[in-house]
Amino acid sequence: MHQLRTTPTDWPSIRADFPILDQQVHGQPLIYFDNAATTQKPRQVLEALRYYYEHDNANVHRGLHELSSRATEAYENARARVAQFIGAASPDEIVFTRGTTEGINLVAQAWGGKFLREGDTILLTEMEHHSNLVPWQLVAEQRGARLRFVPVRDDGTLALEPLDRLLTPEVKLFAFTHVSNSLGTINPAAELCAKARAVGVVTLIDGAQSAGHMPVNVREIGCDFFAFSGHKMCAPTGSGALYGRAEMLDALPPWHGGGEMIVSVALEKSSFKKAPHRFEAGTPNIAGAIGLAAAIDYLETIGRSTIAEHDARLTNYAVERFAELPGMRILGPAGERGAILGFVMENVHPHDLTTFADQRGLAMRGGHHCNQPLMRRFGLPGTTRASFYFYNTTEEIDRMIDILRDAVRFFV
Ligand SMILES: Cc1ncc(COP(=O)(O)O)c(C=O)c1O
Repeated sequence: MHQLRTTPTDWPSIRADFPILDQQVHGQPLIYFDNAATTQKPRQVLEALRYYYEHDNANVHRGLHELSSRATEAYENARARVAQFIGAASPDEIVFTRGTTEGINLVAQAWGGKFLREGDTILLTEMEHHSNLVPWQLVAEQRGARLRFVPVRDDGTLALEPLDRLLTPEVKLFAFTHVSNSLGTINPAAELCAKARAVGVVTLIDGAQSAGHMPVNVREIGCDFFAFSGHKMCAPTGSGALYGRAEMLDALPPWHGGGEMIVSVALEKSSFKKAPHRFEAGTPNIAGAIGLAAAIDYLETIGRSTIAEHDARLTNYAVERFAELPGMRILGPAGERGAILGFVMENVHPHDLTTFADQRGLAMRGGHHCNQPLMRRFGLPGTTRASFYFYNTTEEIDRMIDILRDAVRFFV
């Protein structure tokens, strides 16, 4: 019963690429459903890191020696790989970052510092992760700008009817999440960017929950900036990238100063390299970039459409089975959604439910998920969140349902 439709993809052997999944936690087989927080890493990525450190490790763009040229070549090839992965026009449109948070802070400080004026408005949505909210609060305060928000409907989708009214001439930038990390809502990114572009508003997309889960092409979407994290798509922590349309990046001043980003330095003044190097001060996370490229190779072997289909099958299956659990309510849209299920259990705090599950080997997340304003919008202290990736199975969902059914009995 409850079998998935089979596809030619060999999911069991893909799962076997993730050694961490094969372990017991609290005496039970681990079920890892905290993928929206960070995903696990396949052997292929771990091997790429190991190979780099065992054979090529050196600083980039500096030494005139063989290892440094190899490290530089691998680092710059990784940039080209990222550009291709998200459909950028050129590797020069890719800045390596520590992740989504750093990419958004870069734009807030470099773009906002140069272009925002007193009285200007930044348009966000009510469903933004703190990473796509706090950086704008900081720069708004520095520049005397204001924030404005697209509301979220009760079903977890964005209320798009007021968008035209919200995009007034004071709005200079519209930043929104591609996929909500709490609700699973997939926002119509191309449509939102087209509306903003039509009135000359710059766009930034938080791609933390989309880049590793579905095909993403920044030129088809038509955004100006797109930020994402490597660690949420099989790459190492501390890796990620910011896409900036060439014309946009070229117009931005540096935001961090230091080595690597300069052309020449005098005691009083310096001149800077062109984008993207101007934004990468200091020794970058070279291994992280190489690991990110290895993760991209890995994901593309499976195919992002195949991953998206698998996500949808798992999520639909979980939603269907949740109906068997009394007193449980899933947040977010009833139709198409990302592989994220945020839910609440009547009269039980999400921390208690998540700890109950952990004792049975099921790793989920409980709390506000860095979405405090959104939780307030729904009148909740938080939710419990199960988030899936392509190595998860329907059998694991069946076990989750059994554990949650036990929780219902335990907590009543
Ligand atoms: C939607 C969204 N945006 C931004 C972030 C921040 O990503 P990072 O911590 O990798 O910078 C997350 C992480 O959970 C997220 O889910």
